[in-house]
Amino acid sequence: MTDHAVTFSRRFLLGTFGAALLLPRRALHAADGTTIEVYKSPSCGCCHLWVEHLEANGFAPKVQDMDDLSQVKMIAGVPEQLSACHTALVDGFVIEGHVPAAAIDRLLAERPDIQGLAVPGMPAGSPGMPDPNPERYDVYAFRQGEAQVFMSFIETEVV
Ligand code: CU
Ligand code: CU
Repeated sequence: MTDHAVTFSRRFLLGTFGAALLLPRRALHAADGTTIEVYKSPSCGCCHLWVEHLEANGFAPKVQDMDDLSQVKMIAGVPEQLSACHTALVDGFVIEGHVPAAAIDRLLAERPDIQGLAVPGMPAGSPGMPDPNPERYDVYAFRQGEAQVFMSFIETEVV
């Protein structure tokens, strides 16, 4: 390696490190601009509110309206007992129902060996389902038809 090459790479490293120091918060946020494809019925109001929750938490949703979601859910491998009003795809994972952004952030940070996350039904107080009497609900991780609790929430608070 010539002196010139050493100088260049050192300058390159310092430049990269310096830029990272200027943007620590953005660099650490898992959802920063992450695309998430959302499949929902055009008439679904709670689906739309969930999309707004994703946007407010740094995701970039791409919404596809369709009247029949059964094909999407089948291809995505969503277990029937976990199915909800909308289905989304993010970075190779399936997101079914009113899953809070915090759970998706953790999923993308840890990348466990699962197919995706689901909140079955439409729990009162979950993102997109505002309610004066929010209930405690579970986010399930599913894989090959089996599911286990991944996180629990009341509204968007982890409990
Ligand atoms: Cu819904
Ligand atoms: Cu929905």
